[in-house]
Amino acid sequence: MKISTLGFACIFSLCLLSCTQEKPSDALEDPFYDQQLQSMVDKAVGYLGKIAIDSTAIPRSLQKDGSLYGTGSRDWTSGFYPGQLWQLYEYSQKEELMQAVAQWTAFIEKEKYDTHTHDLGFKVFCSFGQGYRLTQNEAYKEVILQTAATLIKRYHEKVGCIRSWDFNREVWQFPVIIDNMMNLEMLFAATRMSGDSTYYNIAYQHALTTLKNHIREDHSSYHVIDYDTLSGEIRLRQTHQGFSDASSWARGQAWNLYGFSMAYRETGDERFLEHAKGLAQFFYTHPRLPEDLIPYWDFDAPHIPNEPRDASAAAIATCGLLMLCDWVPEEKKQYLSWADKSLAVLSSPTYQSTHAPFLLKHSVGSIPDSSEVDVPIVYADYYYIEALMKRNAMAKLAQK
Ligand code: GLY
Repeated sequence: MKISTLGFACIFSLCLLSCTQEKPSDALEDPFYDQQLQSMVDKAVGYLGKIAIDSTAIPRSLQKDGSLYGTGSRDWTSGFYPGQLWQLYEYSQKEELMQAVAQWTAFIEKEKYDTHTHDLGFKVFCSFGQGYRLTQNEAYKEVILQTAATLIKRYHEKVGCIRSWDFNREVWQFPVIIDNMMNLEMLFAATRMSGDSTYYNIAYQHALTTLKNHIREDHSSYHVIDYDTLSGEIRLRQTHQGFSDASSWARGQAWNLYGFSMAYRETGDERFLEHAKGLAQFFYTHPRLPEDLIPYWDFDAPHIPNEPRDASAAAIATCGLLMLCDWVPEEKKQYLSWADKSLAVLSSPTYQSTHAPFLLKHSVGSIPDSSEVDVPIVYADYYYIEALMKRNAMAKLAQK
């Protein structure tokens, strides 16, 4: 190396060193989240022209032949695609995303009167809820309030829960699934929007009953608890999408983590926080969680390591972890490192989808039904974007 080149290299290295030293500890991570979000915006915008805006084909997954599996608004997943676009609009402020998402969102309005499902939070709060948060559009608020009024019709005083499913009546009297924790977020919001505490009280009681009856000693959760409607007692403890009644279905644990973190945020009840912390430990230190932190579809699946992974469970659980970071100074460093690792893996080529309009591959819908095994599924994308947005905001805050 010539002297002058050597000199330049030394000055350059010193410069780099001093620039690095001046940055706060989170700063090196910051561009990663911005870059990843920007790349998801580019992907989503690029996909806009590739799929028709169609009320009967709201993106859910891929068919076996690789074509789009779209649904009508009635499907439990209908809110996720609009919700994902709202979040990417929030990040990018791109007008074309706003134009498209307003149309996708409108398709879902008619669900506000459907009393036959508990999934109204997923459908309406992920779509209209995100839209209202970003636009303060009063019409969106009215849709959310009507939907909340519809949802609480499924609440049963004696049981202390909102009924989940209406099918399988020959087996179940009053089934409640752990996933239902997620629909409570809309009820908490409805009380804030309306001043009517009924929604809050029902959501709070549902969370308390779930903590008492769904949660095992190790903080994992049963999938389905069936109640006797006369006595309010438990009839059955079962699974529907997991490996066995006693096993830990991975997405169920992710709903559990997100659901109770959110319930703590909304109520301040320390029992929810303590449980969520115990569950984070259960999930992320589980002996059968792979090193890359993307769980198998069930922590007790019989053929681990030859079992499908579930990217959706990883994305949802990461959101739960990041939410917890706001209140756990002692655990924060550990939770952030789990969240960062999960997001880095989900952002790697192994997990990034190139099939419009999906962002992530390798999710599992339901193994017992042989349905949507190892495919992209829209709710994985929705929660992946939510986690990236939250992590990016945390990194920005740490820089201030
Ligand atoms: N809530 C249905 C599921 O997680 O598959």
